[in-house]
Amino acid sequence: MSALRRFILKCRECGREYEPRLVYVCEECFGPLEVHYPELGRLNLSRSVIESRRKDLWRYLELLPIEDPRNIVSLGAGYTTLHKAERLGRKLGLRNLYLKEDITNPTHSFKDRPASVAVSRCLELGLKAVGCASTGNLAAATAAHAAKAGLPSFVFIPEGLEKEKIAQALSYGATIVEVKGTYDQANWLAARFAEEYEVGVVNVNIRPYYVEGSKTLAYEVCEQLGWKAPDHVIIPMASGALLNAINKGFNEFRELGLIDNGTRVSGAQPQGCSPIATAYQRGDEYVTPVERPETIAKSLAIGDPGDGNYALRTIRRTGGAAAAVSDPEIIEAVKDVASLEGIFVEPGAAVPVAALKRFVEDGIIDKDETVVCYLTGSGLKAPETLIEKVRPPIVIRPSVEELRKIMEVMGVA
Ligand SMILES: Cc1ncc(COP(=O)(O)O)c(C=O)c1O
Ligand SMILES: [Zn+2]
Repeated sequence: MSALRRFILKCRECGREYEPRLVYVCEECFGPLEVHYPELGRLNLSRSVIESRRKDLWRYLELLPIEDPRNIVSLGAGYTTLHKAERLGRKLGLRNLYLKEDITNPTHSFKDRPASVAVSRCLELGLKAVGCASTGNLAAATAAHAAKAGLPSFVFIPEGLEKEKIAQALSYGATIVEVKGTYDQANWLAARFAEEYEVGVVNVNIRPYYVEGSKTLAYEVCEQLGWKAPDHVIIPMASGALLNAINKGFNEFRELGLIDNGTRVSGAQPQGCSPIATAYQRGDEYVTPVERPETIAKSLAIGDPGDGNYALRTIRRTGGAAAAVSDPEIIEAVKDVASLEGIFVEPGAAVPVAALKRFVEDGIIDKDETVVCYLTGSGLKAPETLIEKVRPPIVIRPSVEELRKIMEVMGVA
C-alpha cells in the first residue's frame, strides 16, 4: 500500500473536516474529532483479501489511520479467539452465546489494540514521547508499545490500582505518575501534560486515532461468525469509547458491503460507577458524572466518561440496553466464565456477563439470538479482589491418609 492519505478527521458534532494532524477537538464547536474514511465505498476490500492477511489487527490496514505501514508498532495484538460458550449459554438459556476472549493480547487486555494504533500514529507524527491516563490496563498497553517503538512513556494513574498492573507497566519502562485522587483527576493532569509538552497522550490528544484500534473487535467478530454480524453485543463501559468504536466497526463493515445485518449494542457498568447506565435507565439525554467511584471493577471506575453521551446515543439508536450490576453479581460472573468456560477474566471484564444475565431475565435478549460478550481483561491482573471470593486451597501434609479424607468429603471414591 502506498503512503496514500485515506483518512481525515471529522467533528462528531458539526461535521467540520480537518487534515489528520495533532488535533482532537473542533476549533469551531469544541466537539470531539473522529477518523473518517471518505473513500470507504470505493475501497476494494474483499473478504478473501482480508482472509489472506496476517492474523492480527493490522489485517484491516486500509481501515486504520496510518499513512505509512512502516510506522506500524505491533506486538501482535488482535485476532483473538471467539468462543462458543455452550455451558454458560445453557445456564443462561441462550443457544448462540459467544465470548470474545480479548485477554490473550500481548499485555492481556483489549487496550493493546488502541495502544498499537496510537503509538504507531505518534511515531508517524514525529512525537518524541507518549503517555496516557489509565485505570490500569492502558498503562501496560501503552508502555509496552512505547518500549517496542523505543519511545519513553508517562502514565497517569489514580490511587489504589492493582499492584500487578503497576508492576507490569513499570517493567516495560514507564514513568508512572500516581495522582492522589480519582481517575478523572489523573486524566485532567494527563490533558495538561499533553498541552504543555510535545507528547502524544494516547487517550487525550491522540484519541481520535487511538479509538480506531478498538473497532477491530467488531470486524473480527463478523469474520469469525462467517461474515455475519451478531444480533446483539454486550460491552463493558468506562469512558464509553470502546462501545462507540465497536459500533463504528459494524457500521463500516456494512458500508463496505462485507456484512448486511444490523447489531444491537448494549453496555454494562458496575453499580459503584454507572453514570452511563444510570442515565439510560432514567431516560436522560446526558450523563451525570459520579464523583467518587467505588467498585471492585477498578478498570471501569471512570466517573466522568468522555464518550458517555455518545455511548448513550449509540445504545438507544441501535436498540440496545444498559445495565448496572453489583459487586456480588460481578464476582458470580467471574466464577461462571472461569468454571463453565475455562476463561479467567478480571472483574471489569465480567461486567457484561453479569449484565447479560439481567438482560435475559428481563426478556431483552431472545434465546435464539446470536449474542457476543466482550471479555476485555485478564483475571491475572486483579487476583486480590478475587482470592477472598473463591474456595481457598485445602492445606494438608504430604500424606495419603489426609488426601483420602479429602476425597471422601468430595465424594471421589
Ligand atoms: C478491562 C476493561 N474493559 C473495558 C474498559 C472500557 O473502556 P472504555 O473506557 O473505552 O469504555 C476498560 C477501560 O479501561 C478496561 O480496562
Ligand atoms: Zn465541530
